[in-house]
Amino acid sequence: MKAIVQDEYGSADALDLRDIEKPEIDDDEVLIRVHAAGVNIADWAIMNGLPYVARPVYGLRKPKNPVRGSDVSGTVEAVGAGVTRLHPGDEVFGESVGSFAEYATGTEGKLAPKPANLTFEQAAAVPMAGLVALQALSDHGDVRAGQKILINGASGGIGTFAVQIAKSLGAEVTGVCSTRNMDMVRSLGADHVIDYSHENFTQMNQRYDFILDNVANHSMSELRGALTPEGTLVPNGGGFDNHWFASGGRMINAYALKRFVSHKLRPFLVSSKFEDLVPLKELIEAGKVVPVIDRTYPLSEASQAIRYVGEGHTRGKVVITL
Ligand SMILES: NC(=O)c1ccc[n+]([C@@H]2O[C@H](COP(=O)([O-])OP(=O)(O)OC[C@H]3O[C@@H](n4cnc5c(N)ncnc54)[C@H](OP(=O)(O)O)[C@@H]3O)[C@@H](O)[C@H]2O)c1
Repeated sequence: MKAIVQDEYGSADALDLRDIEKPEIDDDEVLIRVHAAGVNIADWAIMNGLPYVARPVYGLRKPKNPVRGSDVSGTVEAVGAGVTRLHPGDEVFGESVGSFAEYATGTEGKLAPKPANLTFEQAAAVPMAGLVALQALSDHGDVRAGQKILINGASGGIGTFAVQIAKSLGAEVTGVCSTRNMDMVRSLGADHVIDYSHENFTQMNQRYDFILDNVANHSMSELRGALTPEGTLVPNGGGFDNHWFASGGRMINAYALKRFVSHKLRPFLVSSKFEDLVPLKELIEAGKVVPVIDRTYPLSEASQAIRYVGEGHTRGKVVITL
């Protein structure tokens, strides 16, 4: 099968389109014929071997799994003896191992039936970004109808899902983005849009019950200053300038601070699970959430796709199609 392979950590130049063996599956795994694969900043980070603190998981000197990609949509080709819910021919979306390839493996706990009203290309855009948005708002933010909430980085992969999910929860949503993305963020349902190139939302005298920060361009105390006294902050973003910890440093700060402040600080790592893919699928099938796709690339141009995502200026999601 054709796959995007890397032998060592490095930039997108380290990625190579090659013919390799189809992956074999264990009893608890399924083999997926990949139709489309979503690209995340996590793929860019693993490609680079960042942050260093994650290397025991991904591989100390080189990636343990040489095929990049996790977000997937496709058709189940084969199932292991212990798999009960999925069957060959099922159309699925979710997290897999090595989705920048014609075949990937997965487990039924991280896959769900593909939303019936989406193409494979659209479905591949959903898993990681949709799950971060849903878990941030529902599990960690407990966002409810009537609350005033703000999404910093509303035009990106996570932000475009977060605006729509927050509206479906009945919140009054403010999205922060650049001038070129204001109309797009408004069209997703945002009640108010702040252009970060002209205004700084932390200095606008407006208080929010909940802030999802996908960007990390303000200090924790500036963000807390924009919250109501018992408001909730999910510090989700952060670049990779710190090669050792990346956004982990900001998360540790939030953990350390949270017992000393009235605000609820809720850093978290996304958990890819069937139980959360199903409500996402329901929101999508009800027409409340529509994935926003910025660009699509063929598998042979996966390195361009991942390089573009690494630049941090996508409008919604980037998808590789097969
Ligand atoms: N907690 C977790 O488990 C988890 C999982 C996945 C990802 N993440 C993190 O979530 C963050 C966001 O991920 P993503 O996939 O949504 O990123 P993304 O798709 O790359 O989003 C980038 C967006 O941010 C906007 N942006 C850049 N600077 C901004 C600013 N100063 N103010 C407001 N918006 C700005 C960009 O718009 P312009 O082009 O207009 O600047 C672009 O639309 C990343 O830091 C990632 O590491 C966390």
